[in-house]
Amino acid sequence: MEIKNRIILALDLQTIEEAMKVAGCVREHIDTIKIGYPLVLAEGLKSISIVKEEFDCKVIADFKVADIPETNTKIADLTFKAGADALIVHGFVGEDSVKACVDSSQKFDREIFLLTEMSHPGASRFLQIAAEEIASMGVDMGLKNYVAPSTKLNRLNKIRSIVGEDSFIISPGVGVQGGDPNQTLKFANAIIVGRSIYSSDNPEKAIKSIINDIKF
Ligand code: XMP
Repeated sequence: MEIKNRIILALDLQTIEEAMKVAGCVREHIDTIKIGYPLVLAEGLKSISIVKEEFDCKVIADFKVADIPETNTKIADLTFKAGADALIVHGFVGEDSVKACVDSSQKFDREIFLLTEMSHPGASRFLQIAAEEIASMGVDMGLKNYVAPSTKLNRLNKIRSIVGEDSFIISPGVGVQGGDPNQTLKFANAIIVGRSIYSSDNPEKAIKSIINDIKF
């Protein structure tokens, strides 16, 4: 996936109005927006098509899908039907559950991102232990898109070494959670940024400052 300026905006607002306002401030600088539960539970799945139509952007649905295969199929089908270009899927649930999402993505000619390890401190206790195997499972399944944390560079580096240089890693945790854009982009293809942009008094200034910091 090509991502302008290597930045994905995490649009975790809870009204369409706020979401449109923030995305409107930064529209020149991005072409990929991540929409998750905060916006979709507040405003519905239609949020995906509303954002896509207004900003002519790619939408990654961050639903961290983690159910049995049959339910994953339903979730993925509904998400792609709603217009999402890609869906984030948890790997810890195992190959059959992930494959259900892969099959759905192929049916709709869309993509999935396999979530290996998370960016918050609590993830160290359970998910980190399984993360390398999750990444290996993704490689065995022929997957090319991954999510790995910017807040734990050694872990991000490790995941990169497993999935290989030709895989595409997107990395959350930059900014408020402590991740550094430049350091992260040594290992990841794009960063995911939410609060540092949408909670700023001046979202455009905030994103420009990140772009200026990034050494391409
Ligand atoms: P902030 O405000 O911290 O937002 O810049 C980060 C965004 O990324 C999501 N997030 C994750 N998504 N794996 C994911 O798939 C992760 O490890 C992870 N950590 C944070 C978070 O929900 C928010 O949208």
